[in-house]
Formats: sequence, structure tokens, C-alpha cells
Amino acid sequence: MEEEFDGYVTATPYTHVYYPESSPAFLQLATFNRSVPFPSSRPLRYLELGYGNGISLNIHAAASPGNYWGADINVAHAATANSLAAASGSGLRALTSSFEELLERPDLPQFDVITALGVWSWVSDANRKTIVELLRRNLVEGGLFCMSSIALPGFGELVPLQRLLRLNLKSDAIPGTIFEKLDTGIDLAMALQKAGSRFLAEDSFAGRKLMTMKTADRAYLVHEYLHEHWKPTLFADTASQLQTAGLQFVGCARPLDQFDELNFRPEALELLASVDDPWLRETARDFLRSGHVRHDVYIKRNEALQGQALSRPALDLEFVLCVPTSMARARNITTPVAKLGFGMPPFRDILDALGEGPLRSWRLDELIGRVSAGGIGEKELLRALMILIDAEIVAPAQPAARVVEAAAACSRLNADILRRSLTDGRIQALASPVTGGGVTVSRIQQLCLLALRQGAGSPKQLAEFAWKAIDASSDDRPEDRPTAAHVLREVLYFSQRLPHLTALKLADDV
Ligand SMILES: C[S@@+](CC[C@H](N)C(=O)[O-])C[C@H]1O[C@@H](n2cnc3c(N)ncnc32)[C@H](O)[C@@H]1O
Repeated sequence: MEEEFDGYVTATPYTHVYYPESSPAFLQLATFNRSVPFPSSRPLRYLELGYGNGISLNIHAAASPGNYWGADINVAHAATANSLAAASGSGLRALTSSFEELLERPDLPQFDVITALGVWSWVSDANRKTIVELLRRNLVEGGLFCMSSIALPGFGELVPLQRLLRLNLKSDAIPGTIFEKLDTGIDLAMALQKAGSRFLAEDSFAGRKLMTMKTADRAYLVHEYLHEHWKPTLFADTASQLQTAGLQFVGCARPLDQFDELNFRPEALELLASVDDPWLRETARDFLRSGHVRHDVYIKRNEALQGQALSRPALDLEFVLCVPTSMARARNITTPVAKLGFGMPPFRDILDALGEGPLRSWRLDELIGRVSAGGIGEKELLRALMILIDAEIVAPAQPAARVVEAAAACSRLNADILRRSLTDGRIQALASPVTGGGVTVSRIQQLCLLALRQGAGSPKQLAEFAWKAIDASSDDRPEDRPTAAHVLREVLYFSQRLPHLTALKLADDV
């Protein structure tokens, strides 16, 4: 295998993590929250640029049916993505192709949605230009572009550390595989930290990032930090480049990022509100955060966007609870300015409503009727739902007809993912026809689903089945191996969660 393609490391594959931000369901919520129309064509025409192992792309293709394409330069990625696509029968076309080759394909159709997560800030200027040209030619008017990027000024502090790791990788004087060179680079930076480098001091942004590197997933670190063209950019510069393809910024793809009051202090909110120019305001937001990976949604549209904050909720949106109410109520999240406990109103009331009676999807208007007695208004309800979605406690749900349409491909894909969990625990999500996206299901929970299918019943039998599989897998790093106590906890959690997995149609045949 070639070691690099135009400065992008291809010597080792990326992680198998599922990212919900680019799911049609999340994109619909992001556009809805800014009163922007979601592309209405069905089947949805969807292209992912740089799909990695194709975990997210396969899950979306199965769970939210449409005409899905993907392009990635790495042949190992294409092999994994295509084997999952063959299992699900979703019709996904996961091409082994560079962006440039893709642009030249005469059969490349028009798309309603194009996504590029983990790509923009990690590829060369020439590739960024190719992406812009693809958007200009192949994204329909009204179509959406979802992308992630690392922004200035926060990530600017990391430039010297990234260059150091890259220099170490390219040095002929340092032998070793890609992972060994990653390690020697991190070791050198750590030695510099200990020797008094103020750029890498423990309380600096770069120093803090460095300290997380020793235990982080190494496939992730290679793809995050070792490329030649790693480049944080100012939001306004990215928006200006995308404008040349007719794109306008809509808003953030991650639910929590869509609410400034959860991220900034009152004086910062006042300051941001006083900045009229949208690019300047969005760029200013990045000055208030340190090292935040942006997940943004753009729309291709000639007219200026009028929609600002949500005016009136779409009452036919649906939501479903993904975890037991008692577990959800015990949790909380900490944002830069707030600590929100899910055992308190309005979260408590919403969780109680969603968990009431036989588990099912709830329409927004039903939920409004259910929680309004507690004094919770529509906007507060919707905001709380978005926070619970960000925490993976609640998920948006698809209309019943689409659940039926997606069921068979999801079931086949999930059977393949469960089969893989016997020997390797890297895919920790299953495709839900109910949510139209992926739901996090740990390897031990997946093994429990398999054990149930094979007739196991008691927690002891489930735990024994899981242990046998974990023991037989050779790819685990010793430090990643779960302890007996962890396995038991997960098995007990699984038993409580099973009704939810069933409601999400992840456990149909157990
Ligand atoms: C960090 S991964 C992101 C994977 C996936 N989007 C995800 O979020 O899981 C970036 C991907 O872009 C691909 N890539 C980089 N440069 C490319 C190019 N010029 N043409 C096609 N794919 C490219 C890499 O092989 C890699 O799989």
C-alpha cells in the first residue's frame, strides 16, 4: 500500500467510530432549528467525501434509505465499507477514488447532501479546491453540505506540536512503523514538556492535548495529526471559499452547539449579539472557545437566508428514548457555562413522558401536550430534546413508513456487525430503522444480543458468552481489556436496556 496520497497518510486505516452529525436526521434538526428547508427529494441522494471505514456511511445508507455514494482514497477503507454494504444490501456505492477522480466521473449524479467529516482541515489546498468544485457542480440548489474543521484561533496553538509529530514521522533518521514513529514523536514532545518547554507546558492547550495522546486511539491520532497539510483555518476564510460554490452557512451540526446560551457567558452573548456581520460573528464565537472542532452545515442557495431562530416547532417531528429512564435521570452534562442535571425539570418530565407506557416514538405535539402541565413551553421542550439528543439519551425518529422501508437493510447490517463483535469490538454502533441513524451499542451489549439469539437467558450466561468472545479476540491491547466487573456491569445494564433496544428495532429476533 502507498504510504501517503498528496500528503495524507494512507499507511493505516482510520477508526471504526460512528459519527451521528452527518446523519440525515441530525441534518434535518440542524436546518429545522434555523428555519431552513431540508431537501425534500426521496430517495435522498447522499455523497460522503472521505468515508474512512464507511461505518457512518453504511449505517446511514441502511437506516435512512436513499441513493448513497462515497469516495475514499484508502483501499483498506473501501474493502471494509464495501463488505458492510454487501451485507446490508443498501445499494451504497463506496468507491476507491480520490476527490479529483470523482470530479472527473461522467456518471457522478447530483446530490441533495454532501458530507466531509475529518477532511477539510486535513487535506491539501488543491484537494480543498476540488471539494469546492464538486460542491459547485454536483450539489443541487437547496442541497446541504456538512463538514468538520479545526478552526483558528484555538487550534493555532497546536500547529508547532503537529509539525513536530510530522517532522518525526518523515525523518529518515528515525526507524519504525507508522505507530512506532507516532510513539517516538509523542515521547519527544513529552520529553520537551518535562525539560521545560513553555509551548508544551501542562496548563497550555498543546500541553493538555499532548497528555491525552498517550492513551488515545492510535489510528485516530495518525489520521488527526500526521498529515502534511494539517491546517486550522479561520471560519470566515472557510465560509468565503465555500461561497464561491454558492454555499451559505446555516449553523452548527451538533445539537449542543446550536445554543449559544449553553456555551457562552452572558457578557459574551451580549457581545456576539452586537456583531451584525454573520461571518464576523461566527469567527468571533471561535475566539470564545479554545480548540473546538467545528461541525457545520451549509446550504447551496442564491437567496439570502432569512430564517434565524426557530419560530414555530414542526409538530410532526418524532423522538424516541434510547436508554432506561432511571439511567438517563441519573446523568448530567457540563457545558462551558452550565451544569444540567437530567433528573431535574424540564429533562425529568420529558424523560418520564418518553418512558411512559409501551416504548415508542412520540410526536412533538404529543410531548407538548404531555409536559405543558408542568409549565414547560414548546421552545424549552425542543431545546431540552436537542440537549438529550446530544447526550445520546434521546434520538430523532423517522415516520412509520420509513421505518418499514429501512428495516430489512438495518437488520442485515446489524447481523454483520454483531458477527464481527465475536472477534473484534471496533464497531460500537448499530443501525436503527426507527431513528434513521446509528445508536451506540457497546461490544459487550452486542455480544449479549448474540447470546440471547443463541438461547442464553440469565445474566450469568450472558456474561459467560461475552467473556468467551473477549478471551478469543487477539486484537485487544491489554490495557483495553475489560475487567470482570466491567463486563458484569454492562450485562446488567444490557438487561435493563433490552426493551429500548427492542423499541429501536435492534433486537427484533431475540
Ligand atoms: C479522518 S478520515 C474521516 C472518515 C469519515 N468521514 C469519518 O468521519 O469517520 C478522512 C478520510 O478522507 C480520506 N481522504 C483523504 N484525502 C483524500 C482524497 N484526496 N481523496 C479521497 N479521500 C481522501 C482518507 O482516506 C480518510 O479515510
